[in-house]
Formats: sequence, structure tokens, C-alpha cells
Amino acid sequence: MELSSLGLWSLLLLACGTLPPGLAGENLVNFLSGDNKCEGQIQLLYNGQWGLMCGDGLGMQEASVICRQHGCGSVNSISQYILTPEEMKQPWLYGAQCHGDEATLWECLLGPWGPLSGCKCQCVAVIICSGGTTRQIGLADGNSPCSGIPEATGVSGLALRCDLQKEEAGVLCRQLECGTALQWSRVYPGTDRKQEDKYIMCQGTEPDILHCQINVNFLEQCDLLTYTQVICTGHVEARLLGGTHPCEGRLEVLQGLTWGTVCYDDLDLPMAHVVCRELECGTAVSILRGSHFGHGSRPVWTEAFRCVGNESLLFHCLREPGHQCGHDQDAALICSGEKFRLVNGSNSCEGRVELRVKNDWQPLCATHWDLADAMVLCHQLNCGYAVAIPQRGYFGNVSNPIWTDVFHCVGTEPHLLSCPASTLGAQTCTLENSASVICSGLQDALRLMDGQSHCDGRVEVFLDGVWGRVLDNAWDLRDAAVVCRQLGCGEAQRAYDAPAPGHKTVPVGLSLVHCLGSETHLAQCNVSMSQLVPAGTLQDAGVVCSGSLSIRLAEGKGRCAGRVEVFYQGTWGTVCDDAWDLQDAHVVCRQLGCGYALSAPGAAYFGAGTGHIWMDELGCLGEESALWECQSGGWGRQDCGHKEDAGVVCSEFTDVRLQEHSQPCTGRLEIFYNGTWGGVCQSLSAASLRVLCGQLGCGSQGQLLARPRSSSRLETIWLKSIHCRDKHDRSLWQCPSEPWNSHSCLSGEEAWLVCTEKTAVSEDMEQLSNCSSTLSCPEEGALRVLGGEDGCSGRVELWHRGSWGTVCDDSWDLADAEVVCRQLGCGPAIAVLHNAAFGPGSGPIWLDEVGCRGSEMSLKACQAKPWGYGDCSHKEDAGVHCLGVSGTVASGNSLALPPIPEVWTLPEIACLVLGCLLGIILLVLAAQWCHSRAISMGSGVMGQLPSDVVYEYIEPVPMEERTEKPAAPQSLVQDEDYDDAEEPEDSLREHMEAGHQ
Ligand SMILES: *[C@@H]1O[C@H](CO)[C@@H](O)[C@H](O)[C@H]1NC(C)=O
Repeated sequence: MELSSLGLWSLLLLACGTLPPGLAGENLVNFLSGDNKCEGQIQLLYNGQWGLMCGDGLGMQEASVICRQHGCGSVNSISQYILTPEEMKQPWLYGAQCHGDEATLWECLLGPWGPLSGCKCQCVAVIICSGGTTRQIGLADGNSPCSGIPEATGVSGLALRCDLQKEEAGVLCRQLECGTALQWSRVYPGTDRKQEDKYIMCQGTEPDILHCQINVNFLEQCDLLTYTQVICTGHVEARLLGGTHPCEGRLEVLQGLTWGTVCYDDLDLPMAHVVCRELECGTAVSILRGSHFGHGSRPVWTEAFRCVGNESLLFHCLREPGHQCGHDQDAALICSGEKFRLVNGSNSCEGRVELRVKNDWQPLCATHWDLADAMVLCHQLNCGYAVAIPQRGYFGNVSNPIWTDVFHCVGTEPHLLSCPASTLGAQTCTLENSASVICSGLQDALRLMDGQSHCDGRVEVFLDGVWGRVLDNAWDLRDAAVVCRQLGCGEAQRAYDAPAPGHKTVPVGLSLVHCLGSETHLAQCNVSMSQLVPAGTLQDAGVVCSGSLSIRLAEGKGRCAGRVEVFYQGTWGTVCDDAWDLQDAHVVCRQLGCGYALSAPGAAYFGAGTGHIWMDELGCLGEESALWECQSGGWGRQDCGHKEDAGVVCSEFTDVRLQEHSQPCTGRLEIFYNGTWGGVCQSLSAASLRVLCGQLGCGSQGQLLARPRSSSRLETIWLKSIHCRDKHDRSLWQCPSEPWNSHSCLSGEEAWLVCTEKTAVSEDMEQLSNCSSTLSCPEEGALRVLGGEDGCSGRVELWHRGSWGTVCDDSWDLADAEVVCRQLGCGPAIAVLHNAAFGPGSGPIWLDEVGCRGSEMSLKACQAKPWGYGDCSHKEDAGVHCLGVSGTVASGNSLALPPIPEVWTLPEIACLVLGCLLGIILLVLAAQWCHSRAISMGSGVMGQLPSDVVYEYIEPVPMEERTEKPAAPQSLVQDEDYDDAEEPEDSLREHMEAGHQ
């Protein structure tokens, strides 16, 4: 399908195999197969002979003559095409040599005609003159201009996506001024392809991917499905981790392929706004420090982002040296997170529910939408509690497509996106069936906190603009009844003294409540305002309403399998397996929106519970809508122990794995559903691969693989068109797709994939050091001095294993200092300093008992205790004082290294990539020129300076030196096959056990 568009040039080339008869006495140069008259492959009629012009030595001079001859201006690019053997039978003209100022090709020196064998490159030149189509090359669908899928605009036929391997990706990254390539498409063992069978073949040194060679013979090998995102070192993106929903959490920033945290002191409000905007989470609400959302374990970036606040991506912010800190200072962030809204109601607290993905608001499907979900949404929108969920069309009909997200909230979650969701495979939703809600609004609003459902917990009231506690020593069932009635939670079952709120300080709202029990609102009761009573002498009011009665499956791998637990009168308890059968289990599955029961394991299959055993001797018919509607011995009447706890596995229980692999994180994608493992069609978006690989613990990037010939057939292929929504879906189960169907596509069309980050192929990348793959990371063993005045004196620090650490002053002497000064390019050492003379450092103490001879080129070459094995404290941090000022004295000292800083901080490298060191001068001189170029290149923020400058200076980025190791052979091919449909119980059990390892 797409082959025809990508191969247009080549197909045209094929069509032109037959050439018009020669016209005697006339010489012609034609462009063939281009998109317009100023580009294409060169065809000649010369001395009565039609033929091709050999690409050997064909350069700018020749191309510019040809462009001029066609009235097409100057040359934009020359690339080499290798044609099919059939096309190459024509005679070849070789040895064309022009000065460049000739009016036509005929004035140049032309060689003889001959067979193909005389043409060394066996290729023709394809020339694009300035009058030709403008081709803007970029990366699309990534999260910054330096990552994504290669894309050319303004061209019909360049198969850029086809196979960008290391060299090609490298050329592209450089061309986009994004640094070097960190990720590209790989050819994996087991496919028929060879690394060399490339449609686009670059040497790696070309200034533009359009200058690379194109081999039309490999067009067929272009498997568009198996490309992967290109990621360059300049890539930057943000995420929030550890929060209860995607719009809050610990801030992590990806640079290249390495995630790291950010110091609290480096996160200011403009940057926070940019992060929230990038994550489609609205605006920043608060910035937090430290452990609110757990500590990070990755590097802490030492560079700060300086944003104006209106940037669309963190990528666009400037970078400069920032603070140093440990993970206890990790920055965290809460964004306003406006992903939901209510429309078409009479106020903003009622209406149809809409969900925002990207910048598009769409209605939400009402299938399985219930009061608990609505309660979460009302709380989240600051609209009080849910009063009702009107059905079909109450707030008007919708015309947009409907998101099929199904939420399974219990009602206590802080955000709808914190609830489990099961969007994958959901049925399409009719337009009348959109979800809606009427919230109470904040006037006289109530809420129940710290409970287990939306109908139990500690009471809070909204008064004078804040939520406050309700304190009462005489809180009783009559008071509780009013609360339950107001919240639509049925009868009051218990009134109790609730534990005071945990870490948060919540003001007192009401105290000493006296209700008759018949009031509809707590506000109608006789109450005292808080001020009258000193807090601390009274208890918090708690209620358990009958509406809290609920059920869950515990200890399973997902919400649709596990030990049956019932929440009755405020306490979770289990169900005994006496007389427990599939009918009973069906009721549980239906009640949970989990389909029907596949099995009803007893004997504490999912582990023994604790506490009450609420039910026994269940005798469901199978059609009941809740387990407590079935016949049973009565609440709490039983003669069982917890080793008899009942369990259920429902048909909607899902799981995911990669199968038939010989390497980890590689293989056929399989999903467990309706009791059967099945495949998935190849129609998987790049974002889906990212979500999948992340969920499998295999890094954050994936690539589809060609199906190995020898693989077994799959009977079931469950899903088609999985399209995870970037920055929205955090697990595969949340991603929209076509509905479940056991024959979504043909056997043989199933997806195979490899998660590219954690496979053997890229392990070497991690071994280099925790973060050597990015621009911002210093090289392993890099050195710096801190606390001095001029960069040539200070406390000595070394970069190792992803963090800076100090050196102990035990046996620290002038020879050691000499080496440090040399490594810094700071001339000779003039003083050795002990006892943290420049202040104590932080982090690890990497070196102790350093014993340099004095001639070593770097500190890491000196003798010392093994890294990190010292017995010192930071009070003993070593320092130096060198003679020179960084970079100036060094040039006069033959021993000194060139003044290339050993310590690559992000801005320095960014500067190198941007060419800004030289560019400061150039910028002034060539501002005008740069501007016009940036526009014509369309290459984003980094496209400001001449590319020649850039190429020369990106070499020192360590990634460039990396060589690939062959994949580690793995002899064991695991062959788990759970497809056996005849023994569902057994396969299930095996599966569950596998899941619990
Ligand atoms: C699930 O399995 C049952 C029984 O094998 C079958 O009747 C039903 O159609 C299946 N559902 C799907 C979506 O394949």
C-alpha cells in the first residue's frame, strides 16, 4: 500500500526502461523520474546514443552545470541511485568532468561510452536543483524534534522510514542539529534480511540524508512495519512518576535515552508550567520537594532548564548549570491536570463527561459508568459529590466519536485516571450512550475520606471555601443517617469515631452535630461552628452506609482474578469455598464488569485472607446481580478457615507476554483474554510499542520484527489497531483498539516485537555508565574542581557511575595535584589542600589513598584504593590550586592537554552541538544568513548555525565511539504454550503460577 507512494521514483524509473529512439545530431540531457522538471536521474542522448551517466566522481561542478543548463538554479543535493540489473543494461557514459562554469554539459570533458562494469559505483546520480521540490526532513511523532519517525515533507517518494540504521540515523540526527543518533532500526537475527540490504545507505559522513545512496533493488526489503523511532542525543522530554495520576509526581527528564531527576532548586514556576503543558496536564499548581512521590534512582541532572514559561516543550528551554543535589531533593510537581470536563449542563458541575486527548475534547462512553466513577470525577473537578448519573441524552446528544474508556473506581481515588481502566478491546459506543453526571456543587458539600468505598469514611464538610473535619463525641446513627442520605449511599449502618486525618492538617469545619435523623442535609441539623470548641478534645465523625457494600478480587494479577473479598459493614472479609462453584463465580465476575467466570478455584488458591469470613455455602443461580443476592448461610455464619477462601478467574482477566523468544524482551506479542493466549495484529502505533515495552519492564522503546519463518501458527489473534494515546495511557489495558475478536487478522499477520532498550544489542550502552549516552553526562572519570575562584582551583570531584564524588586527602600530595591540574588544562599545581579546604562535598567519596607518580594524564590512571572503598568523610575532601586559568595557560604548556573541558556539562555540549562557541562570532556576522537558513531548513530550535561548524564539534560526544557487541547467544528457548484450549483449568493454573513467581 504505502510501497507505491514511497517507491514512486523507482517505479517511474522502471517505467522508463524503454527510451525514445535517438535523434541524429542532437545532444540531450534529461531529468527522469523526478517530481518536477528540476530534479531526477540524468539521462543522456550524446553523439546519437541514449544512455545513463555514471555517478562516479559526479560532484557539485557537474551537477551545477546540469542545473544551469535546465534553468533550474543551483544544486540542492546529489544522491546516488543503484538501479535494477535490467535498467543497467543500457550503455553508460563515464568520466564527465566540469569546471562548473560551463553553460552546458557538452562543454565539459566527457569520457567514453562503455558497459556498466566501467562504472565503479554502479550507480546513477539523482540531482535535485534549487528549482526542484523542497524537501524538509524531520522527525515526526516523537516527543521532541530530536526523536521520532523520519519524515520528508514536499516529496511524494522518499522512503525515509525504510530502514534507518545506525549510519543513516546518524546523518539524520546531525542534519537536524540534534547531536548523534542513539537509537535506530536494527536488523534482528531470525529475519531474512541482512544489515547491508539497505534501501538508503549512508557512509555516515554525508551532510544530508538526501546525499546518501539509494539502492532500488532493496526497495522490497523496506518493511515499513519494522522501523523504529530515531532518537538523537539532543532529545529531551519530561514525565511525572509516582503520583496517583499522570499529572502529578516526581519530575523526570529524559535526555537522549537516559532518564534523570531534577533538583528541587532547579525547578521554578515557568519550567513547571512548561512541563505541565508538555504533558497535556494544564498548568502547574504546586512544586514539591523530596519524597512526596518517592525517591528516584537514576542520575540527578546537574543542569537546569531556564524556561520563559510559554514554551510548548521542555526541549525548547535554555539549559545552564544548575544545582547539585541528592535524591532527597528530587523535584516533584502537581499540574492542574484538566483532562476531564463537564459540558452542556446549566453549570460547570453537571453535564456530559468529556475527556481530553491532545487538544481534542471527546465524550466518554457510559458503559459501566457508575456512581463511584462519578464521585471521583466530582471530587476531582472540585464539584462536591455526585448526586446522579442521568442516562442517555439527558444533556443532549453528541456527534463526535466517543472514547470507550471504562473506569473501575471504588470511589476513593483522587482522579479518574488513578482508577483501573479497561479500554483495550472495548466495544464501540453508540452516540446516545455518553456518560454524564450531576455533581452537588460545593454549597453544603460533604465528602467521605480515608474509607474503602464512596459510601464510608471520615466525614468532611465544605464551609467558607475549605474542606473541614466534623468533630463530635456524641456522633450517632441518626447523624450518620443524614450523611448517608445526603450522599445517596443508602442507610447508615455504623457511626464511629474515625482516626484523625493523617499527615495533612485539615481545619475543623463543624462540631457537636445534633440531627433528628430525618434531615436531607447535614446543614439542616443543629450544629456548632468549629470556633466554639477547641479541637483535640473531640473525635472525628465516621460513617458506614449500606451503599458501601462491595466486592473485590484480591491478590490476583489484575482486577478480574483473585480471592473473593466482600466489604460488609465497614470490614473486608472473605468467602468460604464450601459449595463454591462456577455459578457463584459468574455472579462475582458480572458484578465486577469482568465478563463471566472461567474457573472458581477454592482452597485459598490466591492465598489465605485475614479477618472475617463473611459468606459460606453460596448457592447462586448465576443470574443474580450481586453475590449477596444469592442464597447463603447468612452474613458471617460459617464453619471455615481462611485456607478455604474462594477465588475466581473471570473471562476479562488479561495478561501480556512476549513468546517464542530466544532473547529477553523480544518475541511474539501475546495477550491472555477469555481464557486463551492470542496474538495481536501488526497495526500497533509507535506510542503503543512504548507503552508495551514499559509495561513489560523492557525500557521505553520498541520496534516491530518480521515474523520468523519457523514460528508456530497462532489460532487466536485477539486485537487489531491498538493505538495507545501518548501521555495518557500508562498501561496497555488503557489503550483503545478494535473490539476483542478471536480472528482480528490472519495467522501470520501477528505482531512480533523487540523492545530496543533492554535487549542484548544495546546492553553495551548501559555498561558504559549510567548515563554516558546523553549529551549532558560527563564522561566516565571526568574531573572538575569546585569551590575555587577560577575553575583551576577547588575541591576535586570525579564523575563515576552516574554521579559526582570527591577524593579523600589521605596521602594526597603534589604529584596527585599535578595530574589533576594537567587534566584540567590548568598548568602546574601550586598547592595541595587537605581537610576540605574548599568546603566539604556531597555524594560518594570515590577515591582514597591516591598515589600518582605525577606523569599520568588523568587522575583515574593513578594508583588508589578501589573506587568507592575509602574510609573517609567529606571533612577530608582533597583540593588543588593550579597556576593557570582554565584554557589560557594550558596553550603555553606542552604537557597540558588541549583546553577541551573534560567535564561535559550539558550547556557546554549543547553549545558545541549548536556550534555556539565559534558561533558567538559567527552569529553576529551571519545572523541574517542563519535566519533565512533556519526557515528554509525548518529544522527546529537547533537549526541556527552553519552545519559545518556543528559536524566538527560533535565528535567528542562519547556515544560516537560506541561499538556494538553481538547479541549474547542464549541457548535456552523457553517454550511455554498455554494455548491448549482443552484444559482451561490447567493452563490457567499454570499461568497464574507463572504470574506469581
Ligand atoms: C469467549 O469464549 C466463549 C466460550 O469459549 C465464547 O463463547 C465467546 O464467544 C468468547 N468471546 C470472545 C470475545 O471471543
